[in-house]
Amino acid sequence: MSVSPFDVTGRVALVTGAAAGLGFAMAKTLSDHGAKVACLDTDADALARCEALDNTLTIPADVTDAQAMSAAVDQIVDRWGALDICVANAGVSDRPGDLLHDTAPAEWARVTRVNLDGVYNTLHPALAQMIAQGHGKVITVASMWGHVGPAGLFPRPAYAASKGAVVNLTRELGVQYAPHNIQVNALCPGFFRTEGRPRTEEAAAAMAAYTPAGRIAQADEIAGALLMLASRASDFMSGSSVVIDGGVLAR
Ligand SMILES: NC(=O)c1ccc[n+]([C@@H]2O[C@H](COP(=O)([O-])OP(=O)(O)OC[C@H]3O[C@@H](n4cnc5c(N)ncnc54)[C@H](O)[C@@H]3O)[C@@H](O)[C@H]2O)c1
Repeated sequence: MSVSPFDVTGRVALVTGAAAGLGFAMAKTLSDHGAKVACLDTDADALARCEALDNTLTIPADVTDAQAMSAAVDQIVDRWGALDICVANAGVSDRPGDLLHDTAPAEWARVTRVNLDGVYNTLHPALAQMIAQGHGKVITVASMWGHVGPAGLFPRPAYAASKGAVVNLTRELGVQYAPHNIQVNALCPGFFRTEGRPRTEEAAAAMAAYTPAGRIAQADEIAGALLMLASRASDFMSGSSVVIDGGVLAR
């Protein structure tokens, strides 16, 4: 039988923000498909659920801490000898509804530190390892709001700024690292249901109404696109955004 182009068996992965939501769904997908998965999150208690997955290592750490992220990559390489797949997923949002002049400097900094600086802190040591080993798959998790402004539904200026930056950083890294056999691509989700979100059924209904598919997605619907970007299926993809949004951006 031929090997699936989406095969990730035996691959070593890091997923940040793995204790909940899309991060957990992606860690589980990789584990279910035979990868070894380092699950990193600030929430040490919540990380315990990742221990129930096969072949996992849990790392309580904060993506805003550059030293901790460097140590995390060292720990993974010490344990498993490589880092084949890096999913920079950890992210936070500013309060929906705030216009820029209502967004306090501390709130702006809180969001951009995780969503943008956190991606740098994750990819800086990960890409150094991938260059040394001669291959790698980097998957940034941006958003459909990295491509258009969310204000029509939920004004969130720091989120929009940071996700737009991640989309363009992904393009830049796609170009920088394609010659090194390292593919860097972005996942850009639309509305997905996770443990804490949407916060109200009213919000869920508004999101569904905004989405041409007429519904919001379940967290595990990220799995197929993730496996594509994590496997040889994406060997000729660099700097792309894979948008999974039920048609919002196509309208
Ligand atoms: N859920 C959606 O509809 C949606 C849509 C578009 C994009 N996204 C993006 O997907 C990613 C995951 O979103 P989610 O909805 O699953 O979020 P979530 O809030 O459900 O989970 C995020 C996880 O990241 C962890 N985390 C937060 N800050 C961290 C830090 N500094 N260091 C390490 N871990 C940290 C949290 O503890 C949590 O476990 C985010 O980047 C988000 O912007 C989500």
